Amino acid sequence: MTPRTFKTPITELFGIRHPLICGGMMWLSNADYVGAVVNGGGMGFITPRSFPTLDDFRNELRRCFEITQGGQFGVNLYVSARPEANEQLTRFLDIAIEEGVGFVETAGYSPREFLPRIKDAGIKVIHKCTSLRHAVSAEKAGVDAVIILGAEAGGHPGMQLIGTMVQGAQVPQALSIPVVLAGGMGTGRQLVACLALGAGGMLLASRMIVASEIWAHDDYKRRVAEMDAADTRIIMTIFGDNSRVMANETADRVLALEADGVDDFEAYRGLVAGEIQRQAYESGDWNLGTPSVGQGGSFADRIEPVEVIFDRIMADAVAARRTIEGTR
Ligand SMILES: Cc1cc2nc3c(=O)[nH]c(=O)nc-3n(C[C@H](O)[C@H](O)[C@H](O)COP(=O)(O)O)c2cc1C
Repeated sequence: MTPRTFKTPITELFGIRHPLICGGMMWLSNADYVGAVVNGGGMGFITPRSFPTLDDFRNELRRCFEITQGGQFGVNLYVSARPEANEQLTRFLDIAIEEGVGFVETAGYSPREFLPRIKDAGIKVIHKCTSLRHAVSAEKAGVDAVIILGAEAGGHPGMQLIGTMVQGAQVPQALSIPVVLAGGMGTGRQLVACLALGAGGMLLASRMIVASEIWAHDDYKRRVAEMDAADTRIIMTIFGDNSRVMANETADRVLALEADGVDDFEAYRGLVAGEIQRQAYESGDWNLGTPSVGQGGSFADRIEPVEVIFDRIMADAVAARRTIEGTR
């Protein structure tokens, strides 16, 4: 286990050993994975929608506290544009509060309406967004920290597709709260670059899919371990909802529909539905559906425990720091 190497506003905010934040991943961020992230010295977020019932979600939180032996972790709350979807989010939040969860990662739309309830419970909030403008308004709304996503990111990298390097050179300078850089991350030299840009840490998601503690089929993980940075596609642009996913047969079919100008969601549902992504993880068939993955997946090279991935990242960070200090 790598000892503490960097002290930053993010390690202090979360009380963690390394400035490594692991973004919530639908279907994958369960107690085993998030618990391993916390035990490895980082911070992770359980995704409530990954569980069939509210009771299952609650049990997952309890199981995570067992794995971390009471160590704190987080919950991911994806704020929707649809008020009916956010009713469920309020119930997720109630359960997180009842179970004593310490951190929340919000994403999607503004978390403003949920902040009073979250803050009253003493929970710290890190909001994930894709533009400087949204980062500034999240700070004004009262979040404790911001994750800024660049175009390289898996999942929803935003419609403007601004690169992580540009976000990194702008957002930390513009805010007075801690910032985490995200999108395409996977190495320690990138962590050092994040810190040099004024961020307090980096966020990993796609890089972590190969972790032993992730329940997905090994065939799926092997595909991620083999992929290179060109093996992702941006789909759903036609709906104003860019999504970076695995380059596969299904993504090609979605892109063909978009190229034909088809804008009836029903034509896409059977290709992009979340449930099909779960089946891809379960079966290992990576051509099934459109599983989220970003360019950072190209840094994944083998299936191994979270702690080993963190050790390699931190060793790389130490080497990168020596390089810029001119001691090598
Ligand atoms: C498989 C997968 C599932 C994801 N699910 C969610 C999610 O449920 N909620 C969320 O806020 N972000 C989700 N994301 C986005 C990540 O938390 C993170 O913001 C993004 O992937 C960072 O970029 P990277 O993949 O290049 O590291 C997902 C990403 C991946 C790869």
